[in-house]
Amino acid sequence: MRILLVASAFNSLTQRVYTVLRALGHVVAVELALGDEPVRAAVERFRPELILAPMLTRAIPEDVWSRYPVFIVHPGPMGDRGPSSLDWAIHENAEVWGVTVLQAVAEMDAGPIWASAPFSVRPGAKSELYRGEVADAAVSAVLLAVERFQSGSFEPDPLDYSRPEISGRLRPYHTQDYRRIDWSVDDTATVLRKLRSGDSQPGVLDTLAGREYYLHGGHSEDRLRGAPGQVIATRDGAICRATVDGAVWILQLRPRRAPGDPATFKLPAVDVLGDFLADVPEVPVSPEEAGRRQTWAEIRYREDGAVGFLEFAFPSGAMSTQQCRRLLTAYRDAAARRTAVLVLGPARDFFSNGIHLNVIEAAADPADESWQNINAMDDLVEAILTTTDKLVVSALAGNAAAGGVMLALAADEVWCRASVVLNPHYRLMGLHGSEYWTYTLPARVGAEEARRLTSAALPVGADEALALRLVDRVVGGSASEFGTWVGREAARLAESVSLETRLLAKKIRRAGDEAAKPLAAYREEELARMRVNFTDPAEPYHTLRRNFVCKVSPTATPEHLRG
Ligand code: COA
Repeated sequence: MRILLVASAFNSLTQRVYTVLRALGHVVAVELALGDEPVRAAVERFRPELILAPMLTRAIPEDVWSRYPVFIVHPGPMGDRGPSSLDWAIHENAEVWGVTVLQAVAEMDAGPIWASAPFSVRPGAKSELYRGEVADAAVSAVLLAVERFQSGSFEPDPLDYSRPEISGRLRPYHTQDYRRIDWSVDDTATVLRKLRSGDSQPGVLDTLAGREYYLHGGHSEDRLRGAPGQVIATRDGAICRATVDGAVWILQLRPRRAPGDPATFKLPAVDVLGDFLADVPEVPVSPEEAGRRQTWAEIRYREDGAVGFLEFAFPSGAMSTQQCRRLLTAYRDAAARRTAVLVLGPARDFFSNGIHLNVIEAAADPADESWQNINAMDDLVEAILTTTDKLVVSALAGNAAAGGVMLALAADEVWCRASVVLNPHYRLMGLHGSEYWTYTLPARVGAEEARRLTSAALPVGADEALALRLVDRVVGGSASEFGTWVGREAARLAESVSLETRLLAKKIRRAGDEAAKPLAAYREEELARMRVNFTDPAEPYHTLRRNFVCKVSPTATPEHLRG
């Protein structure tokens, strides 16, 4: 079928639906919902049989939905309506929620229902839920709706609140009035729900050091205590605030923007608060200790038999210079352990999205900070590439992009959850890219395919990635099922009789590759191009980065998405 995706952004869910429908042989084009006229023009141009809106924040024009079938993906159970479904699900502590595919009609979210899929709401941030459970349920519901539509015989159910299976209702926009934290009253569970329902957008508006900020990221703390609302500790850029019955970690802050002022964006809380924290102690936790405790840590390490697991979870998958350096230290420690296999990757959500564009944007000298950041990334990748006494596995429970994909490729094997979407390219940020990608990517997929992937700048689904040999293994299931599978397979790898032979082969291959062309030469060539990207005023990187960080909407749908 010819399917036009109309979306407010080519975001993770839209990318997922795009890769899944294309893999099924549908002809798919994307139009960003930037106004009624461009949408009408795209419909005229593409002549779709079906229009699908995986993520839409504005209405489709009536003359489009009255002439074409338009399916809207709504992140709520049947009958749920309104713009803040997931915020409400988390705020009200729902255990089960759903995704519904309904046909567009004049009234928002009130059209006939084509399909719906439930999911369990796991404690965590809204955006993490969106990229995980919501995306999986949305794909199930979309595929069922498309199949029913193609059958030609399915009659969608009208929205009828008298039916028992219609569990949802119309809910208002989730304003800051619902989100506001009363530190003198709200217990930890309530504070966490409020923080998580607002993360990553819009955050919870609060006052700190006499200024208004949006708070982002909410994690519990098992030991630290203090006066409710007080900042009692810092750790790796995050702040810990006491509640009436415990404490929570807040990772990032975004200053409230005054009318007429430039856009503000999220940054590590400690960077934002600066001197205000002069008397607040930094309370570190080692990756090993974090692995045993219920506290927030961006890096955790644990061992199970001959397998080491180095988990890292950076907000938004973005890795600043400092975060890369901390991970490199933890990696070196983990690599020095007497394990046979080392597994890298977060338990869920983004694996990595490369260098930290927000921190770079906020730096006094963004070109210099970009340079520091890419070098710190390269140091980490180099450490992985040169580990020859154990097998290293990148385990991707969630998506990766740009340098984050290339970081994964540094490992001997890349294992991937079936729901993962990869963006193995840098072009959209105006960068040549580094992370030794010119060594690892062609070695995996071939020079021609590497050129295609990096220039087409399109998302790649896990199955396609497997077919291209971009990744080695793909398995379905939830993030926790994936984690269990990774643990089992890593143990099997560690115990396999062929391990010694594989390690020997790895040493020989690395030495051969080094003799043919040293890693340092790849790095030098890549960084020579990156230096131009960072320092030449004619290069688009700084403008592209600023627009990305400040969420400047594009003026037109990028050509490469139009199919
Ligand atoms: N630095 C800083 N923030 C980043 C980031 C990065 N490298 N990559 C993603 N983010 C942030 C986004 O701004 C967004 O923030 P928000 O939640 O406050 O809106 C959040 O992570 C999620 O990203 P979003 O774009 O909404 O998710 P997505 O799944 O729809 O798209 C990507 C993911 C990775 C395709 C997209 O974010 C992207 O292109 N990132 C830039 C990758 C890059 O160029 N890295 C630098 C070169 S190595």
